[in-house]
Order: sequence, then C-alpha cells, then structure tokens
Amino acid sequence: MEVLKINKQEFGETAILYSLTNDNGLTMNVTNLGARIVDLIVPVNGEERNIVLGFESAEEYLTKDIYFGATIGRVAGRIKHGSFSLDGKSYQLPVNPENGHTLHGGTESFETKLWDAEIEETTNQVSVTFSYVSPNGENGFPGELKAYVRYSLTNENEWIIDYQAETDQPTLYNPTNHVYFNLTGDMTQSVGEHELFVYADRFAVVDEDTTVTGELRSVEETPFDFRKTKSVEQVFQTTYEQNSLVDGLDHPFMLNQTGFEAPQAIITAPEKDLTVEMYTDRPAVVIFTAQFGNEGPEVRGQKLANHGGITLETQVSPGAVEFEGFGNIELYPDAPYQSRTIFKIK
Ligand code: GAL
Repeated sequence: MEVLKINKQEFGETAILYSLTNDNGLTMNVTNLGARIVDLIVPVNGEERNIVLGFESAEEYLTKDIYFGATIGRVAGRIKHGSFSLDGKSYQLPVNPENGHTLHGGTESFETKLWDAEIEETTNQVSVTFSYVSPNGENGFPGELKAYVRYSLTNENEWIIDYQAETDQPTLYNPTNHVYFNLTGDMTQSVGEHELFVYADRFAVVDEDTTVTGELRSVEETPFDFRKTKSVEQVFQTTYEQNSLVDGLDHPFMLNQTGFEAPQAIITAPEKDLTVEMYTDRPAVVIFTAQFGNEGPEVRGQKLANHGGITLETQVSPGAVEFEGFGNIELYPDAPYQSRTIFKIK
C-alpha cells in the first residue's frame, strides 16, 4: 500500500508542522520554526518509537531548548571571542556574556526564525524545502545570505538533509542540524547503553569553555576511539580529562572519509533493534551527549535524563576560522554553498 504523503497542521500560534510519512510507516514531523525536526517515529516490533528529542508546540522550543532538532547557522559551534577576519577585514560578532564567545550563530539566529516552506512529493520521497533570507549584518555577519534546507523522507527509510546557500558578499557559513537521538524512545533513559561507531582517527581537543584549543589528537588509546563499535557509557565513566571536562562528549571528530558509500557514524539502540547510520560530505561531526544534569527539560511529558540524547552535528569543525587544518567555512558570491547529510534508519 502506498502511503507516501505530507500533511500540514498548526504548531502553536504561528508555526506550522509538516508530517511526512513513507510507505514503511515512518513518520517525520518537521516545523518551519528553525527549519527543525520535531519527531521521527519508527515502527519497531509493531510499536511506534519516537527516536528524537522534541516538543509538542513551537512555544515550548522558545522556553525550553531552542536548539533541539534545529537548523543551526550561520556558523555552528563556538567562534572564540566572536571575532574573525575575512579577506583582510576584521569582524566582531555579539558574544554570549557568560563566556565571551559566539555559539551557533549567536542568539536569536536560524533556530528562532519562521522559515518559508515548499513541499514536494515524488515517486520515492516526500520533501519540505525551508528557506530563509538572513539580512546583511544579521548577528554581525556580512552579506545577505539566502539559505535553503531541504528535508526528504525516502522509502529507503532515509532522512536526507540538503543544504544550499548563496551570499552577495564574502561571509562565513557552516550550518548543521542539532538533532538529538535516543533510540530507546524513552527520554528518561541515558544514551549510555547505546553503541557508537565513528570513523575518525582524530578529534579536536577542547578547553574548559568548550572552545577548541587547536590541537587535533589521535583517538588511539583514548575513550574517543569509536573506530570499533563501543558503548557510549565509557565516556561517562572514564576519568580521561577531555571527557571529565565536559562530562561526556562535546567534541568534533575529524572524519577519515566523506561521502555516501559507507557510513561515517552509526548509533545502535541498547536492544540492538534499531540503528541510525550517518552519511555526510562534511569533514567533521560534533558529538554532544546532552549533559544537562538536572537542568534537562520535560520532553513530551517526561523529564529528560542526564545524557538523554546524542547529537551527530555534521559540519566543518569549529576552529576553522582560527586554526590551520580545521577546514574552511568562507562563502563567496561566485561559489554557492551545497552539502548533504543522510540519516538512514535500519
Ligand atoms: C552543542 C554544543 C554544546 C551545547 C549545545 C547546546 O552543539 O557543542 O556545548 O552548547 O550545543 O545546548
């Protein structure tokens, strides 16, 4: 039976929720508030399991956690002291008063905007393309930036994210998606019992304030060696300084290979009844294990556990504007931005 379809409904006062369903009964709900994923509901052994953190109305995002599932931009991660130079010109972005850096493009960035949306249904997938025009100078960034993010749900159980952008002046651009997975569907459970594979020989060392230091370190003989699948729990238990500093993972992993031939990361549920494979053309993935302690919000009526989710934020590693070897996030008018990440549910 063919069920591939998209439905539209209100999501709080001003936002819209798009519900995408494929022929296998997977449902992905996305909203134009922050071009965000809200739910990813997978049938497992005859039951429905929602495997991402999300809330039940747009307003909840504004008050509880604005980054859950959102498109992050213009620049994912921290820009140290909010300063950078581009083509010989220096720029100072507004910084977060608590730590003096600019996180996720600054406050009230992509994640708080109501994006335009267009839907498309083809034979094998349903898509929503979100678009947002970020004015010249928004949050201190030069250039008017036209950003597009297309989410597709395919009959191969893939969630495909296609990013495109163009600018009218040289600028920086390094978007990601801030989805948190918890493959148990029970957000009161830590993701410690999940297994993780990451095809990365090196990770970026961070400071106490979670900015990268510029050191790229081998994962060999550290809790960061996920080249052989391991449980996530070890990064919560270890006394390795890089983990105790941030109470888990909040680090960029430099991927050994990019593209869509083989997954660069895999998360497996504790019962091994579900996996999510990540494929990307980006050179790094930032993995954050939701160390919110007791500060975690209520998620769909349940108190989120500490370490109640895990992100796979594909991007160029933070530090690209300061350090050699971290990649390049400059965007120029003559070379529009394009990138793709796929999460495949198995
Ligand atoms: C992550 C970041 C964390 C934290 C989180 C938002 O991407 O690395 O340090 O700020 O976003 O809660």
